[in-house]
Amino acid sequence: MLIQEYYKTRKDILEKGLEDLLAPNSEYPKNLHKAMRYTVMNGGKRIRPILFFSTYEMLLGRKNKKRIERVLPAAIALELVHTASLIHDDLPSMDNSSERRGKASCHVKFDVPTAILTGDALITLAYEVLTNFKSSTDSINCIKILSKALSSRGMIGGQAVDIISATKKININTLRYIHIKKTGALLQASVEMACILQEVDENITITLSNFALNLGLAYQIVDDILDEVGSYDILGKEPGGDLKNEKATYPLLLGLEKSKKTAEKLLRDAHNMIKNMNNNEALLEFINSITERLP
Ligand code: IPE
Ligand code: IPE
Ligand code: MG
Ligand code: MG
Ligand code: MG
Repeated sequence: MLIQEYYKTRKDILEKGLEDLLAPNSEYPKNLHKAMRYTVMNGGKRIRPILFFSTYEMLLGRKNKKRIERVLPAAIALELVHTASLIHDDLPSMDNSSERRGKASCHVKFDVPTAILTGDALITLAYEVLTNFKSSTDSINCIKILSKALSSRGMIGGQAVDIISATKKININTLRYIHIKKTGALLQASVEMACILQEVDENITITLSNFALNLGLAYQIVDDILDEVGSYDILGKEPGGDLKNEKATYPLLLGLEKSKKTAEKLLRDAHNMIKNMNNNEALLEFINSITERLP
């Protein structure tokens, strides 16, 4: 199977899972349910679920749609919490971004209170979905991984430092912390869930978790670069938001060229971490797809 076709079939399974899960627009309270659908079903790239599926099937040793259906709760939960993080990230008191995924941000399309509550509702829904595994051990393990990834020591911690660092001069270690936490933590959770559901050895989990951290840091550096020199089409919003908000970014601290080199090195290292693993084609392509985002 071509990798592109593989990605598409896995993405389709996820889209259907999300579609089936979300309450209809007509359900009371309508505004909230509309906002949940509006933000989730709107053309996200779904990279976290894809990373999860690719890792899971690599560890399984074969591509198997039935097995993918069984672990769908993990993929759905990852996408729901990610979407929640974007809704909150765009709020006027955070990045004040009026566009997301090529459309009006949640608080612009609806209003700020609805956007706050939509994020909250998506996070709680994610945890509810994780209780749907056949095995309660799988549920508990995934809930634990997701909680750690979202926590004050994970994505939320990264977002907190991101916000307080705007307009300030920070050093590269603090910036690295921000990126590893705000973006790396969820990518890490994606591969860690795959590892725990496959009950792999601890050393493989550690390698894959480090691999995901590299990907997350690289992904956020590329996002910073695109915010400076990317196009509307690739970003799904007008570029220049980071500069306007005086955000701490890699291009601001290191310059564009050095930022690009840093991302490329992280992606090369990620490649080396998994190059000897069997059935790694989908993950290798995942690395390529990040490299290809670089302008
Ligand atoms: C955007 O994430 C936020 C970052 C971590 C840079 P994505 O680039 O995965 O956004 P969507 O989900 O495809 O819209
Ligand atoms: C967002 O980083 C990271 C999270 C939402 C956790 P950014 O603020 O750079 O993401 P974009 O550029 O708005 O997508
Ligand atoms: Mg932000
Ligand atoms: Mg933002
Ligand atoms: Mg950005």
